[in-house]
Amino acid sequence: MELVDALIESARAVRANAYAPYSVYSVGAAVRGADGKTYTGCNVENVSFGLCMCAERVAIGQMVSSGCRKIVEVAVATRDGGTPCGMCRQTLAEFTDEPERVTVWLVNDAGNRESFSLAELIPNTFRADFGSEK
Ligand code: THU
Repeated sequence: MELVDALIESARAVRANAYAPYSVYSVGAAVRGADGKTYTGCNVENVSFGLCMCAERVAIGQMVSSGCRKIVEVAVATRDGGTPCGMCRQTLAEFTDEPERVTVWLVNDAGNRESFSLAELIPNTFRADFGSEK
């Protein structure tokens, strides 16, 4: 099995664990780290809607907690091939110096795939020099 196929399968599998009783929109995400491991996450909603956690950021949390800080490839599974939200795009960008080389695969229930580079999804990410103010 190709690496990308395995990554997509991981995203589709973890989607089954989504806790999404409010939106009824389940999301599964799989991130392949520079360590070669795959980290997964699903969306975790809350009755206080602002506390909802997106699948991508849950997966990134797993990766960073495991000691890996570099993303190589990403897959996101939804029923309709939905794209990552802005907050998740910025969070993905935090963990690569090469956003043009990070492919983000979107897969729907029918198994159709679409891909973007992370640089396409979020050009000109926020950057700031926190060292310059007195
Ligand atoms: N969601 C994600 O998991 N990832 C995204 O990038 C966008 C939205 C979740 C949040 C919420 O649980 C549901 O999808 C509907 O917005």
